[in-house]
Amino acid sequence: MEPDYQAVLEQVAEDIAPQIGHGRPAEYIPALSSVDPRRFGMALADVHGQVYGVGDWQEPFSTQSITKVFTLALALARGGDSLWQRVGREPSGNPFNSLVQLEYENGIPRNPFINAGALVVTDRLHGLTGDARGALLDFLRTESGNDRLDFAPEVAESEAGHGDRNAALGYFMASCGNMHNPVPTVLDHYFWQCSIEMSCADLALAGGFLARHGVRADGTRLLTRSEAKQVNAVMLTCGTYDAAGEFAYRVGLPGKSGVGGGVLAVLPGRATLCVYSPGLDARGNSVVGVAALDRFTTLTGLSVF
Ligand code: DON
Repeated sequence: MEPDYQAVLEQVAEDIAPQIGHGRPAEYIPALSSVDPRRFGMALADVHGQVYGVGDWQEPFSTQSITKVFTLALALARGGDSLWQRVGREPSGNPFNSLVQLEYENGIPRNPFINAGALVVTDRLHGLTGDARGALLDFLRTESGNDRLDFAPEVAESEAGHGDRNAALGYFMASCGNMHNPVPTVLDHYFWQCSIEMSCADLALAGGFLARHGVRADGTRLLTRSEAKQVNAVMLTCGTYDAAGEFAYRVGLPGKSGVGGGVLAVLPGRATLCVYSPGLDARGNSVVGVAALDRFTTLTGLSVF
């Protein structure tokens, strides 16, 4: 039997209230540093599309790295598993924007969720569609049922203006033959991809295919059951960067964070959750977001373990 999800979310909100405001919003992009650190929202979409929520669950925020899950799914759906020749599936144990490993490993990023790996995925999706950011936005609008979803140009421009590290990653991979489109094109699509604004409800609905073993909101299939398992597995092991071990220990679900303060998590076969609170820890994950997911799985006993 399903728990009373609304009651559980309300309990979670009450339990984490003392922690609201902990952590610091991302500061490396001016467009992200100005958000109110006290915001908190959480939504759950069950596999039938029923949504429950608390707090600021309908407020849009900057999705940032959460989009990496969706570009990965689209690149696999359209281009198949040859992608894995260009990007690995191992946790990096390094910060999300780290450069060091890439040279030792000949320009093959450890996984698709660190920035280097996400650039490869965006490059692949761009090669497959001719418009990586457009393909992503279309997909997110369709799956969330929200046609108003859009890019935030000021965030994309701010990102581009502070994007030297991402440029370094892109050009280094190009020097190893692991960028197939011009680096400035890939960076541009990546920055716009990260700027998409969505609410917890939008993200929980858009990620529904991950809980439905690859099946989209309209009943058609995006990923095979096996591919959906693989994406969830990489989320569990790599979705929160060098804190993935701690996240798995505390939350016990596949999850993907973004420096905008969102975290998407999947209860395979049951539901997708999204929590938002902009205060980040030192590894770039939402302090209250992780605490809320920890509380959710503890209260319900629902996790992949
Ligand atoms: O590449 C960047 O720096 C950002 N646009 C995305 C970073 C991000 O969200 C990493 N996450 N925790």
